[in-house]
Amino acid sequence: AELGVPVGTPTREACKQEIADRPRRNRKAAILREAIRETPPVLPANMIYPLFVYDHVMEPETETEISSMPGVRRHTVEGVVKEVGEAIAVGVKQCVVFPKTPDALKTRLGEECYNSEGLAQRTIRALKDAYGDEVFVHTDVALDPYNTDGHDGIVDDLTGRVLNDETVLMLCKQAVSQAEAGADCVAPSDMMDGRIGAIRQALDDNGFEHVSIMSYCAKYASAFYGPFRDALDSAPVAGGVQRKVPKDKKTYQMDPGNYREALRELEADEAEGADVVMVKPGMPYLDVIRLLRDNTSLPVAAYHVSGEYAMLKAAAANGWVDERECVLEALTCFKRAGADLILTYYAKQAAAWLQEED
Ligand code: PBG
Repeated sequence: AELGVPVGTPTREACKQEIADRPRRNRKAAILREAIRETPPVLPANMIYPLFVYDHVMEPETETEISSMPGVRRHTVEGVVKEVGEAIAVGVKQCVVFPKTPDALKTRLGEECYNSEGLAQRTIRALKDAYGDEVFVHTDVALDPYNTDGHDGIVDDLTGRVLNDETVLMLCKQAVSQAEAGADCVAPSDMMDGRIGAIRQALDDNGFEHVSIMSYCAKYASAFYGPFRDALDSAPVAGGVQRKVPKDKKTYQMDPGNYREALRELEADEAEGADVVMVKPGMPYLDVIRLLRDNTSLPVAAYHVSGEYAMLKAAAANGWVDERECVLEALTCFKRAGADLILTYYAKQAAAWLQEED
């Protein structure tokens, strides 16, 4: 076989078009591509590692594997400490803790959320005892892992309403209790109105003016949270004939079709004192990340959620996509869209891949 262009290729002279602009010139060499890349690769420092913790004393029979999230596990408190140590070793110094509350401790109100000896509080303390300033610990503020209804707020089961202001009071107690345990940043994921301001006030009143708030600002009522709810056994529980309990979170999380409404949430969170604003889920909502980036001077975070992780894992397991390439590309795209921080179950793995690259 001959080398070179295939036989029959038109001659250069035959190509009559006047091509004035040739963008391909700027892509011709790896050196040039690297030199002019608009978005630098994600750094391990940009990533926040979400971790699930369970109570192995109260619920020793808990499955540690999560079948809808291959490679992600429920950890004991000691297990979280070990996992975070490994993450720190590859440069991921931020984590966010999600407790799987033992069934016996779940109540209608979810009072366990502010138990100073609760699973989240014990995990936060263990992490800060082990690593001090080497780790930055975020927490989840919401009632769904703690209440029997699986909702982020208190449910009035006569009307089926998720109560706003009553819930905010609980969230304030939860946030203060997490701050007492040593949290560096509390992250309300509940989407109740006015909770950022109320939590800010409660933290300040209790001497925690140095504790940050990362607001789940534009959090959508998304089907992509399914695997997360498996992990924590926190899906909304239908109430049956007698009790009206909503089967979804659409009266407090945002409608996936809405864009402008994210600005309304942003304005409220800024006015109420949020330090970081988050968009969630991630990849289907890159436009919303860009919207917040262009409309605030606050850092913007993106949550690459459980369902997005599960999709990548499933496709990779089938050999349909290259996992490493897809994940690193997705992380770059979050950054290009305007995210400063990325919460991802891939954090430790992605940081390790980045280390191999240089
Ligand atoms: C609960 C909460 C959820 C997630 C983070 N905090 C689930 C929900 O709102 O139902 C989802 C994260 C993920 O899917 O990875 N307040």
